[in-house]
Amino acid sequence: MSNLENTILVDLARKLFRGCTNFHIEPDSVKLMTWSWQELFVDLTLRSPVIKKYPISTELSRIFLKKLINCIEPVQEVHDNLYAELCRAMNNSAIEDYCYRHYVISNDLNNIITMKETKNMVVNGTTGMRTWEAALMLSDWILCNKELFSSKDVLELGSGIGFTGITLAKFCEPKSVTMTDCHEDVLQVLCENVDINFPSQCKNRSSDGTTYELDNTSFVPRRHPRC
Ligand SMILES: C[S@@+](CC[C@H](N)C(=O)[O-])C[C@H]1O[C@@H](n2cnc3c(N)ncnc32)[C@H](O)[C@@H]1O
Repeated sequence: MSNLENTILVDLARKLFRGCTNFHIEPDSVKLMTWSWQELFVDLTLRSPVIKKYPISTELSRIFLKKLINCIEPVQEVHDNLYAELCRAMNNSAIEDYCYRHYVISNDLNNIITMKETKNMVVNGTTGMRTWEAALMLSDWILCNKELFSSKDVLELGSGIGFTGITLAKFCEPKSVTMTDCHEDVLQVLCENVDINFPSQCKNRSSDGTTYELDNTSFVPRRHPRC
């Protein structure tokens, strides 16, 4: 696969993983989406082990696949697996309270942070049940300045379901990360997201939070009272 074909594949995969349906494909790029490219795309995304275990929203994958197929169809034959995945998404149209989004770090499809979250801005009186654009931008900045966090005790206020703190704990080698939120439902999903992204870590529960021991990092989602 050429560098350009690979770049197009990773870029589209990142958008699908994140549930982003707003993409544009240049006509020249569509020519590179050959039968084998399409097969690889489906294998690396919708049929990958991580998506099988933590499925993305069927509604968003349906919109994404329809748009992708519409782009490919006039130029070349569409792979059966793309149609099969579209049919699966269309048949499985139950209303989803939660889905999983997968955030690709440093354009590496093997380097993914998986988040259980909702598509809604506000759920049960809180804005904390989804990953906000601000969390993505802050995390990008953190990843560009890892040395500032190395061996530090880091406290995050209003961490929501945890994307920023999880990214920091995973990639910046801090001494500890304490993530706080005031909403019980948010804290519960935050703990689930820590479990997903650090599956084999030791966990201790206490009345004011859950502590995870991550190699050299201690990691604490904690209740923080509303002011
Ligand atoms: C807009 S969300 C942002 C979540 C996350 N930081 C992000 O960017 O994806 C704001 C979060 O702050 C939490 N929050 C608001 N006021 C708070 C307070 N006084 N103490 C702790 N958490 C608070 C909310 O429960 C919510 O989860």
